[in-house]
Amino acid sequence: MNKIYSNRPLVVGLMRLEQLSSEELETLIKSCLDLGIDSFDIADIYCHHESEIKLGEVLKRNPSLREKMFIQTKCGIVQKEGEFTHYDLSYDYIQKATRESLARMNLSYVDSLLLHRPDIFMDADEIDRAFCDLKKEEIVSHFGVSNMDVSQIRYLRDSATLPIEVDQLQLGLGQCTLLSQAINVNNPEEQGLNNDGIFYYLKKHEMALQCWSPYQFGFFKGSIFNVPEMRNTQIELKKLAEKYQSTPCGIATAFLSSLGKNVQVITGSTNIDHIKESLAGTKIVLSKADWYELFASTGHLVP
Ligand SMILES: NC(=O)c1ccc[n+]([C@@H]2O[C@H](COP(=O)([O-])OP(=O)(O)OC[C@H]3O[C@@H](n4cnc5c(N)ncnc54)[C@H](OP(=O)(O)O)[C@@H]3O)[C@@H](O)[C@H]2O)c1
Repeated sequence: MNKIYSNRPLVVGLMRLEQLSSEELETLIKSCLDLGIDSFDIADIYCHHESEIKLGEVLKRNPSLREKMFIQTKCGIVQKEGEFTHYDLSYDYIQKATRESLARMNLSYVDSLLLHRPDIFMDADEIDRAFCDLKKEEIVSHFGVSNMDVSQIRYLRDSATLPIEVDQLQLGLGQCTLLSQAINVNNPEEQGLNNDGIFYYLKKHEMALQCWSPYQFGFFKGSIFNVPEMRNTQIELKKLAEKYQSTPCGIATAFLSSLGKNVQVITGSTNIDHIKESLAGTKIVLSKADWYELFASTGHLVP
């Protein structure tokens, strides 16, 4: 069983920590651990390094938290003064970025390292060497990717000594093209740009499908719970929330969790009551009829 997702249906994302002090972050982490949520997703670039720095302050103050947590970070997006410059998945960059992340977080190792986005220049043998060296030095325990398609994962796997255990992709009611591709295989209007079967590929290879921005409409266009473009879905979420004695957020989470054991939902909320709603949602299995009705409410075709 994949250790990353086994018994970890919900991950707390630490991308939006601008408004949180490190003391508030510590309270949030402790509350999550009390609820049985031990997985936290971060990246070197979040809040221009501040997310990792704040987590580092928490762990310095309270080192006993470390062993209770599963910490996943990412590298590969290069920024200068907070602005994107390029992607870099070279051996040297992966090594350097990982060590810098560890220093910021006051850690000797991370549980999981993801390549944040594909780099057109990436070389599978070089990445394999970087992963093997980080593993040998006991700096990283597990490896994965983010925002990659089947061809890119296959390319890396063909040279990989170590398992690639995760693909982190945007997926939720407000952005579910990859599910529509799996349902509408012979409808060109529903295919999007890249119908490569990623959904079943991850399932077949027992890789975690980590859903980022599960409650965002499109690419950061607002929350699915209140944007006008998702009125039909909001009505459906309310209806199902009553039926399953849950909340709209619980049902939006169940929409993803119901897809399989390899699915992990990454909530970006730092509000513990909202996180509780997500956690409760991971325990609901929607009936097939309800799942398809909810999917159809997004405007995607159910032929
Ligand atoms: N790999 C990548 O390229 C990538 C890209 C983006 C993000 N990520 C990861 O994904 C995580 C989540 O991303 P995100 O923050 O964009 O996603 P999100 O969780 O879909 O969106 C967060 C928004 O949803 C709202 N929300 C959550 N639960 C709610 C509830 N019960 N009721 C009402 N509103 C609710 C939040 O409001 P409140 O704050 O008020 O709860 C917040 O405005 C990030 O932290 C990061 O770890 C990865």
